[in-house]
Amino acid sequence: MIKMKKLTLGYKKEKILKNVNLHIHKGEFVSIIGPSGAGKSTLLMSIVGGIKVFDGDFEVLNFDMENIKKKNLVRLREQIGIIFQGYNLVDRLTVLDNVISGMLKDIPMARAIIKYYKEKELKKVNELMQIVDIAKYSFKRCDELSGGQRQRVAIARALASDPKIILADEPISALDQKSAKKVMKILEKVNKELNVTIVANLHHLDIAQKYCTRIIGVNDGKIVFDGKPDELTEEIIEKIYEGELHK
Ligand SMILES: Nc1ncnc2c1ncn2[C@@H]1O[C@H](COP(=O)(O)OP(=O)(O)O)[C@@H](O)[C@H]1O
Ligand SMILES: [Mg+2]
Repeated sequence: MIKMKKLTLGYKKEKILKNVNLHIHKGEFVSIIGPSGAGKSTLLMSIVGGIKVFDGDFEVLNFDMENIKKKNLVRLREQIGIIFQGYNLVDRLTVLDNVISGMLKDIPMARAIIKYYKEKELKKVNELMQIVDIAKYSFKRCDELSGGQRQRVAIARALASDPKIILADEPISALDQKSAKKVMKILEKVNKELNVTIVANLHHLDIAQKYCTRIIGVNDGKIVFDGKPDELTEEIIEKIYEGELHK
């Protein structure tokens, strides 16, 4: 799904990720960990394009990311759902409207404006709301929900376009422990039952170890660990977070 080979990435003239080798396969639940400023968000967001390729090979869903045309970039982005720390929902709209907005490429604008949805579309939205356990709040405005509930709406909306990949940048860092656990359980279910590949930047190491199938440790733009959660040792963890304490 995602192939990076000797890849160097960054912004304008600044190289942020250096010589990265990474293959992510269908069905994986990958967590990227590392100190702040290491390049985790840059790595994650490069998967939807827009980050400069300096050197190496980079493919996402068979698109060559170095030479991708605008039209193909749109097609690529239609197949990738994104979830952020800050939810990015439309506050004054209901849960249902927010989730259905994730399907908008399939729904003509005119129908969206008058909120005329087909039965098939509503059925799908209902299924998604059930998956993330938010169906009982369908008609509540999003600004009436808690942080954890909002993040679950964001997951349902990301799923509405049937993505092959979900990218999550610090999806639980603004949540309390209980809500965070619930969100992680839902992501785990989405990964296992819907077979959606997930790549998530996670701040909490214990959570990454508990829910993910693979952990990538990034320090100063380089991958310093790539393995299974139970392969992480104290020594490796120190190497991944090296420098963080001195900031
Ligand atoms: N849009 C941008 N333009 C230029 N530099 C950026 C941009 N976004 C991030 N950076 C720089 O890239 C480096 C890595 O940042 P980031 O990928 O956000 O790290 P992390 O998510 O691990 O905290 C930092 O030095 C940051 O200042
Ligand atoms: Mg970040």
